[in-house]
Amino acid sequence: MAIRRMRLALSLLCVLMTIGTGTASDEPALLALKAGLSGSSSSALASWNTSASFCGWEGVTCSHRWPTRVAALDLPSSNLTGTLPPAVGNLTFLRRLNLSSNQLHGEIPPAVGRLRRLLVLDMDHNSISGVIPANLSSCISLTILRIQSNPQLGGRIPPELGNTLPRLKKLQLRKNSLTGKIPASLANLSSLQHLSLSYNKLEGLIPPGLGDIAGLRYLFLNANNLSGELPLSLYNLSSLMMLQVGNNMLHGSIPSDIGRMLPGIQVFGLDVNRFTGVIPHSLSNLSTLTDLYLSDNKFTGFVPPNLGRLQYLQYLYLVGNQLEADNTKGWEFPLHCQTAASCKNLSSLTTLSVGSCQGQLGTCQRRYKCSI
Ligand SMILES: *[C@@H]1O[C@H](CO)[C@@H](O)[C@H](O)[C@H]1NC(C)=O
Ligand SMILES: *[C@@H]1O[C@H](CO)[C@@H](O)[C@H](O)[C@H]1NC(C)=O
Ligand SMILES: *[C@@H]1O[C@H](CO)[C@@H](O)[C@H](O)[C@H]1NC(C)=O
Ligand SMILES: *[C@@H]1O[C@H](CO)[C@@H](O)[C@H](O)[C@H]1NC(C)=O
Ligand SMILES: *[C@@H]1O[C@H](CO)[C@@H](O)[C@H](O)[C@H]1NC(C)=O
Ligand SMILES: *[C@@H]1O[C@H](CO)[C@@H](O)[C@H](O)[C@H]1NC(C)=O
Ligand SMILES: *[C@@H]1O[C@H](CO)[C@@H](O)[C@H](O)[C@H]1NC(C)=O
Ligand SMILES: *[C@@H]1O[C@H](CO)[C@@H](O)[C@H](O)[C@H]1NC(C)=O
Ligand SMILES: *[C@@H]1O[C@H](CO)[C@@H](O)[C@H](O)[C@H]1NC(C)=O
Ligand SMILES: *[C@@H]1O[C@H](CO)[C@@H](O)[C@H](O)[C@H]1NC(C)=O
Repeated sequence: MAIRRMRLALSLLCVLMTIGTGTASDEPALLALKAGLSGSSSSALASWNTSASFCGWEGVTCSHRWPTRVAALDLPSSNLTGTLPPAVGNLTFLRRLNLSSNQLHGEIPPAVGRLRRLLVLDMDHNSISGVIPANLSSCISLTILRIQSNPQLGGRIPPELGNTLPRLKKLQLRKNSLTGKIPASLANLSSLQHLSLSYNKLEGLIPPGLGDIAGLRYLFLNANNLSGELPLSLYNLSSLMMLQVGNNMLHGSIPSDIGRMLPGIQVFGLDVNRFTGVIPHSLSNLSTLTDLYLSDNKFTGFVPPNLGRLQYLQYLYLVGNQLEADNTKGWEFPLHCQTAASCKNLSSLTTLSVGSCQGQLGTCQRRYKCSI
C-alpha cells in the first residue's frame, strides 16, 4: 500500500515536472504560430511540417538542456505576413525572438508576458498596430527590447516597463506613433545603455531621473513634441556618448560650464528647438565631439573662436540662429583656417553650416570664404 502510494506520488511528480520544466513539446505552439502566419509567401515556413523534428525547422533553435523546447526563433526578413498568435506565449523556454523586417500586422499578444526567460525581442520593421502590451513587463530577463519602424503602433509607453526589467540594456522604440509622456519610471532601468524614443509623438517634459542611469551611453529623443528644459541632470551623465534631442519644443540655455561635463560626448544635438543664450566658450573643452548640431534655435552672440580646438569635429550646424558676425569679429574660428596650425585643428570637419554658408568643405580657403 505504502509502495503503491509512493509510486502514485512519484508519477504525479513526473507529471508536474513535465509541466513545470522542459519535457513538454513546443510543436503545437509552433504549428499554431505557423497558422497565424499563414498567407506568408515565406519559403522559411515550408520546412515547418511534421515530416521532420521541429528542432530542424528553419529559424528554430532548440534548447540544449531541454531538447523539446525552443530556445530561439529567428525569422528576420522572411516575408512573414499575418499576426503573431497568443500561442507564442507557450514557448516559455524562448530566449530570443527575432521577427524583424517582415510584414506582421495586428497586435503583439499580451501572452508574450509569459516569456520570462526571454532576453531579446526584436520586432523592428513590421506593420504592427495597437499598443505595446504592458505585459511585456513580465519578461523580466529582457536585455534588448526593440520595436521600431511600426508606424501604426500607438498608445503610451507602459510605465510598468521601467520597474520590472532590471537587466534591460537597450530600449529601442524609434519610428512608431507612441503618444503621451516619457514615463518617469524609465529612470529605474538601472542597466540601460541605449534609450531610443525618436520619431514618435511623445510630449511633456523629459524626466530628470534619466540623468541617474549611470551607464547610459546613447539617448535619442529627437523628433517628438517634448517641451520644457533639458534637465540639468542629463549633463551629469559621464558615460554619455550621444545625446540627440533635436526637433522638439525644448527651451533653456546651454550651461556655461558644459566643458566640465559630458567627458565622452561625441554627438550633441539640440537643433530645431527654442534654445536661447550664447554658445558657451567652454564647449571647446568637449574634446571628443564629432557632431555638433545647434541649428534652428535662438542662440545669440558670437561663435566661440576656440571651437577650432575641436580636432575630431566633422559636422557643425549653426544655421538658423541669431548669431552675430562681421568681417572682423565672430568669424575668428573659421578665419583661423588661414594659418596652417589652426587648420590642422579642424582637419576632420567635412560639413559646416552657418547662415548662408553650407555644404562640403574641401579646403581651409573655402571655409574662410564662408560668410554668415
Ligand atoms: C498554450 O498553452 C495553453 C495553456 O497552457 C493551452 O491551453 C493551449 O492549448 C496551448 N496552445 C498551444 C497551441 O500549444
Ligand atoms: C521573400 O520574397 C522574395 C520575393 O518574393 C524572394 O525572392 C525571397 O526568396 C523570399 N525570402 C524568403 C525567406 O522567403
Ligand atoms: C517538409 O519540410 C522538409 C524540410 O524540413 C522539406 O524538405 C519538405 O519539402 C517539406 N514538405 C512539405 C510538404 O512542404
Ligand atoms: C535580428 O536579426 C537581424 C537580421 O539578422 C539583425 O540585424 C538584428 O541585429 C537582430 N536583432 C537583434 C536584437 O539581435
Ligand atoms: C497579462 O498580465 C496580467 C498581470 O500579470 C495577467 O493577469 C494576464 O493573464 C496576462 N495576460 C496574458 C494574456 O498573459
Ligand atoms: C523606482 O523604483 C522604486 C523602487 O521600486 C520606486 O519606489 C520608485 O517609485 C520608482 N521610480 C519611479 C520614477 O517610478
Ligand atoms: C505639441 O504640443 C503642444 C502643447 O505642448 C500642442 O499645442 C501641439 O499641438 C503639439 N503638436 C503636435 C504636432 O502634436
Ligand atoms: C550631478 O551629480 C552630482 C554628484 O553625483 C550631484 O550632487 C548633483 O546633484 C547632480 N546634479 C544634477 C542636476 O542632477
Ligand atoms: C577648458 O579646460 C581647461 C582645463 O580644465 C580649463 O583650464 C579652461 O579654462 C577650460 N576652458 C574653457 C573655455 O572653459
Ligand atoms: C589647436 O589645438 C591646440 C591643441 O591641440 C591648441 O593649443 C591651439 O590653441 C588650437 N588652435 C586654435 C586656433 O584653436
